[in-house]
Amino acid sequence: MPESVASYAGVLAEALAAVGQATSEEALDALRVRYLGRRGAVTELLRGLAGADAVERPRLGAQLNAVRRRIEEALEEAVARTREAGRASARAAETLDVTLPGRRPPRGGLHPIGRLIDEISEIFLGLGFEVREGPEVETERYNFDALNTPPDHPARDAGDSFYIRPGLLLRTHTSPVQIRTMEAEDPPIRIIAPGRVYRRDALDATHSPVFHQVEGLYVDRGVTMGDLKRTLATFVRRFFGPKHRVRFRPSYFPFVEPGAEVDMSCILCDGRGCRTCKGSGWIEILGAGMVHPRVLEVLRGRGHDPADYTGFAFGMGIERPFMLRHGVDDIRHILENDLRFLARFAS
Ligand code: DAH
Repeated sequence: MPESVASYAGVLAEALAAVGQATSEEALDALRVRYLGRRGAVTELLRGLAGADAVERPRLGAQLNAVRRRIEEALEEAVARTREAGRASARAAETLDVTLPGRRPPRGGLHPIGRLIDEISEIFLGLGFEVREGPEVETERYNFDALNTPPDHPARDAGDSFYIRPGLLLRTHTSPVQIRTMEAEDPPIRIIAPGRVYRRDALDATHSPVFHQVEGLYVDRGVTMGDLKRTLATFVRRFFGPKHRVRFRPSYFPFVEPGAEVDMSCILCDGRGCRTCKGSGWIEILGAGMVHPRVLEVLRGRGHDPADYTGFAFGMGIERPFMLRHGVDDIRHILENDLRFLARFAS
């Protein structure tokens, strides 16, 4: 049946052309259905064989099967081709640029105040001091009474200090660690005590309700004011630089006698006088003095006679030296933990 054979060739040519143009697996699936599916063109032709001449039927059948196989092969090839093309374009899309600089993951670091405390501690460790710590929630006894602070002292006022309840407050200074240490250890005692302290101050450029101090205490037989001066002068030289000097001005703190305020030569103008030191050439950095005999009374708790001992003590703020050293003009920068600021001090 020449007509049938011609239409076989036509279907085959049409199918091969369509397969050749298909660019996706979905399109090829659709073509498989169109030609080889249960209602497909080739299937319909196979069904048509039922009415064909019995003599011609085997030959036509063989030809149709050959057409079917050709289309199947073409479809398989085309599927393999589109898969490979898909993989190639995916590879092209994910090409790595090995010359691109890497992205650094952000790294944590120590807070500059913590690092400063470490640095100060190192200096005092080198002078034979050890580091002690005390609680930030403190009793009035440690914070005031044992430090010879009179009952009517303004610092005891609830308007100046943060009370948790009567008799219990956030420590207003690191000095209570003096008492705690003398209660727990025998002389000679040579310690520093860094930490946070709290006062009811409004936050502004130079005040903060929370800041840091380092306390110092040296108790032994025969400790003198000369030892205090030498220790603080050495500290200032090691911390700020060899040409810096200290001077003592008489002052009053209940827990020392005599008491002093200690200045260092101005870090900015080197003593000539500038705005930071208000023209004086000196900057106050700490309070100090010889431990008051009433404070030494605590030594009795461990069986020592206070009369056998003398001692010096000092207490220094941390934020102010930090600001002087780094030219920071607002304490809030240090305490607000803005990473853009802190990153300036990352090592
Ligand atoms: N505790 C004092 C304050 O916070 C500082 C101070 C002064 C500490 C004299 C001392 C000292 O140990 O002897 O202002």
